[in-house]
Amino acid sequence: MPPLPAVVFQHYRQPRHQGALIKATEVVLEGRREDAELRLYLRVDDQDKVRLGYTLKGDRSPIAALSLLATWAMGRPLAEVEALTLEQLASHYELPNDLRPALVQVLEALEAALAVRRGEPNPYADEGALVCHCLHVREKRIERTIRERKLSTVDEVRFWTRACSGCRSCRTDVEEILGRCSRG
Ligand code: FES
Repeated sequence: MPPLPAVVFQHYRQPRHQGALIKATEVVLEGRREDAELRLYLRVDDQDKVRLGYTLKGDRSPIAALSLLATWAMGRPLAEVEALTLEQLASHYELPNDLRPALVQVLEALEAALAVRRGEPNPYADEGALVCHCLHVREKRIERTIRERKLSTVDEVRFWTRACSGCRSCRTDVEEILGRCSRG
């Protein structure tokens, strides 16, 4: 496995902008374990400049991605933050392809916070049935990732969602979702 890029290692060792924010929009996403959660705080000041904070419970693995996102977003105009894509964030930090999946969940947390701030429901509040118990990955996340990234194999689903990376007893379910998506 190649070494982590220096910027990721630095943000993992010394995460920035960690902690709750007052007077902020707050959203909670499930983590990679049964009791884990990711909590993102979004605050927009009078000049429409953004600040993000975050807390994690039960699983520290998204911390570098959260720190990178919060550092990128700090002080940027709301419109720029709303238009952020995974490719843009990955390119900003020159992240290799194999680290891009780590950005998916934190960008979904940002999308959820922006939606809630606009008065809309959190689009990731209900992710459906638990498919992969080892990595705690739910059905809608797998289906969404297959459709958005046009995936066709279990290996690709594993790469992007981490589903089927443990005991692999969920492989049949992942294949069933792949088949469903390929039929339209
Ligand atoms: S249940 Fe998915 S890897 Fe074990």
